[in-house]
Amino acid sequence: MPATKGSTVSTDLHLGSASPATADTDAVIVGLLPAAEAGATPRLAPGAEEVDAAFDGALAQLLAVTGATGKADEVVKIPTRGTITAPLLVAVGLGKPDAGDAPSAEQVRRASGTAARALAGTERALSTLGRIELAAAAEGTLMGAYTFTAYRTGSNGRAPVGSVELLSTDSDAAATLRTAAAVATAVRTTRDLVNTPPNDLYPETFAARARELAEAAGIEVEILDDEALVAGGYGGVSGVGQGSSRKPRLVRLRYAGGPSPRAKVALVGKGVTFDTGGISIKPAAGMDAMTSDMGGAAAVIATTVLAAQLELPVAVTATVPMVENMPSDSAYRPGDVLRMYGGKTVEVLNTDAEGRLILADAIVRAAEDGPDYLVETSTLTGAQQVALGMRTMGVMGSEPFRERVAGLARATGEDGWAMPFPGHIRAELDSRVADIANVTGKRYGGMLVAGTFLGEFVPAGLSWAHLDIAGPSFHTGGPYGYTTKGGTGVPVRTLLAVLQDIAENG
Ligand code: BES
Ligand code: MN
Ligand code: ZN
Repeated sequence: MPATKGSTVSTDLHLGSASPATADTDAVIVGLLPAAEAGATPRLAPGAEEVDAAFDGALAQLLAVTGATGKADEVVKIPTRGTITAPLLVAVGLGKPDAGDAPSAEQVRRASGTAARALAGTERALSTLGRIELAAAAEGTLMGAYTFTAYRTGSNGRAPVGSVELLSTDSDAAATLRTAAAVATAVRTTRDLVNTPPNDLYPETFAARARELAEAAGIEVEILDDEALVAGGYGGVSGVGQGSSRKPRLVRLRYAGGPSPRAKVALVGKGVTFDTGGISIKPAAGMDAMTSDMGGAAAVIATTVLAAQLELPVAVTATVPMVENMPSDSAYRPGDVLRMYGGKTVEVLNTDAEGRLILADAIVRAAEDGPDYLVETSTLTGAQQVALGMRTMGVMGSEPFRERVAGLARATGEDGWAMPFPGHIRAELDSRVADIANVTGKRYGGMLVAGTFLGEFVPAGLSWAHLDIAGPSFHTGGPYGYTTKGGTGVPVRTLLAVLQDIAENG
């Protein structure tokens, strides 16, 4: 396969020990915080003391002369002319702390990402931001330095910053750095998978890539091919997948959770490698973005591998349906009735509501193993983007797990908001001929309709969450913070936070 290994050029992270004023490096990164009152001088963030001393304690004033204010995503570069050993000083805005004086982990993460992007083309840099929060600085640096170059020939575009030394006050710095690098690598792997074009990433090759990742991490893999899916009664995956010459797959990964796992968690992710809409075909404008309709699958695979690498005491299974949704003479049609895994029947009224069909099979299969929690994630509805915008995932499911997951999403900086299942919606999915229809035919509350549909396939009593990531998983605007163009890696860090929280609290 040509490449799902996009970010081959990567940035090395190290722990630094030299003073930032005298370190032998090409650039030193310091943080800048906005002044408490409007019009006053911004403040240097903690960690830059030796640099400030070299500038006679006047570095913040000097940066203010350039117009720097310390707002998020602001970068000011000044030549040092020997004031410190490094020839370049990079001041990056942290933004106003949400509470109190100290910047949050997410502010450090974003500023580190911004600084890493601003240092593209530089060999070596040293960051003082690790002294505020080492893990956040490391994650932000590696996520911000991400580039996807597998499909570019020649050298258009500058190489990411070569290596970054992080200063820190962390007593267990080496372990913190290792964990942060693993987390960022999972995010980057997810981005690579999302950014790989659909002519190279289709169910067969996606499943092969999942196998490689799982085997490298020493976890179990099982792949059902199209024949096994039909034989096994997976009517949702088979039905949606039958229109494409790229045959469907169902990938299952299993990490046992070490000697004494605290709980069993099932992860499920939507893997539509390209969504044309099928016979209910989408308009041409913007259809190319449907290369990202497997972002949930990619995140679930990467997170399961990450759980194994971090040896979390939680058993994790990933159940990942993979299809290409195509119109053709073999495609499923509006009016078809599919018999899903587990036996429920679904009337297809719109072949573009395909994600919920493949996920229904996957959810029933995942629940068969008796997990304590089930977390499913998908680029499921355009309605998520309308309701919550491009940076906030919609979190649905059973209470109180839904609120717990939404809170964890916000804590990671990925951002999520809990959404309801109004009781009247289920009746709107009543079908003329089958147990349920896949759409309501009305345009209202589309995100909640899709979630309600999925809920029909979750066994009663199982704590579950559905994360609609249609907006947050794919970024088409200019880069900001650690978010680069294309796949964002959302919701890997939320899924990890959920697993960690379950490991700690059950
Ligand atoms: N993959 C799309 C949802 C989507 C839209 C993801 C935009 C990312 C960006 C999904 O399969 C879909 O087509 N949903 C339809 C559902 C409708 C037919 C009820 C939608 O949202 O329009
Ligand atoms: Mn669709
Ligand atoms: Zn889709």
